[in-house]
Amino acid sequence: MTGIAEATRIGGSVDAHKGTGEDMPDGRQDSGAMSAMLEVRDLVVSFQGAKKSWNNAVEGVDFSVRQGEILGIVGESSCGKSVTSFSIMRLHNERSTKYQGSITFDGSDIFSLSPKQLRELRGGDIGFIFQNPMSSLNPLMTIGQQLRETVHAHQTSLGKEEVEASCIEALEDAGSDDPKAWMERYPYQLSGGMLQRVVIGIALINHPKLLIADEPTTALDVTIQMQLLKVLRGLRDKRGMSIILITHDMGVVAQMCDRVEVMYLGQIVESAPVDELFAHPRHPYTQGLLAATPPLDGDRPERLSTIPGSVPQLSEVAGSGCRFASRCPFVADECRKSVIDMQSIAERHGARCIRLAEIGEFRKVAS
Ligand SMILES: Nc1ncnc2c1ncn2[C@@H]1O[C@H](COP(=O)(O)OP(=O)(O)O)[C@@H](O)[C@H]1O
Ligand code: SF4
Ligand SMILES: [Mg+2]
Repeated sequence: MTGIAEATRIGGSVDAHKGTGEDMPDGRQDSGAMSAMLEVRDLVVSFQGAKKSWNNAVEGVDFSVRQGEILGIVGESSCGKSVTSFSIMRLHNERSTKYQGSITFDGSDIFSLSPKQLRELRGGDIGFIFQNPMSSLNPLMTIGQQLRETVHAHQTSLGKEEVEASCIEALEDAGSDDPKAWMERYPYQLSGGMLQRVVIGIALINHPKLLIADEPTTALDVTIQMQLLKVLRGLRDKRGMSIILITHDMGVVAQMCDRVEVMYLGQIVESAPVDELFAHPRHPYTQGLLAATPPLDGDRPERLSTIPGSVPQLSEVAGSGCRFASRCPFVADECRKSVIDMQSIAERHGARCIRLAEIGEFRKVAS
């Protein structure tokens, strides 16, 4: 499995951007607490359900992102990746959402920001790319109008020519080969791949320090996906910004990320630098995801493993015990008895599993 990470990396070395990686006491990975661009600590996100009950979607999530680092958050559908990423900009409906824990971005406590400060942050210092580009574009406005509007919302002092130059630069950086022509068009006149480049351009236009990309290429075909991943990687290299890349695809993590947080049912279950994770995956869920990932170096096996079962509802596994127990091939009685904390494995590597010694480094989960 090491080969996935080594053989398919997009772009050059990431060493210049890597954090110092100070260890946290329980083995979770801190990408350098002194200079983290973003720190998420013990985040709990609860949504109001029927009869005014509150249901947690994310519990005890910890991670940080340094300047210039690409952090991957990976997991199957419904594991809490989007809930976590939306929380960084407080995008959930505040009347039906409760947050606990802390999120600090560039020194600011996100949960203390006023509505005005939040508006300045969104599309300013933090850019966001959603999975479906049409959800963030207005079909009745040209691409140029939408780009200009985003600049005006955050940089009021720029003159007309500077605004035009910013729009063109953002589209070029997002990989447009003809930005002026694109600016004249309406969204319906562009292909899915072009639209996603426009959305990347809009996210970039105010020079964000952090770009959050939530499954940005999932709806696109493989060739366009590769092109867009290269664009994102190039942007990190050119602009030095940090990126959180949300994906369900371990292949994308291998190609793009410096570090990775594996999420299962609202929790981080394994955290490590990407090379370490691919060389020494320890949590059974990570091992299952890797076994289900086709190698990208062309050496494709006849049949890939799958993780048995599907992600349950959090309410179904509420209470103490390991959340992966219902699908874990290594489950034992002790796994269901107590809350499972992150266990330290190596420098900058932790996993939420109490049977690491018995499981060993990598065993394929039976399909
Ligand atoms: N606004 C919401 N209200 C209630 N539950 C939600 C809301 N948004 C997401 N959830 C639930 O939270 C869990 C995690 O969802 P999500 O973060 O979207 O998963 P994913 O990892 O696929 O991005 C899911 O069970 C989902 O149904
Ligand atoms: S704690 Fe037990 S059930 Fe959970 S991942 Fe480890 S072995 Fe599997
Ligand atoms: Mg999602």
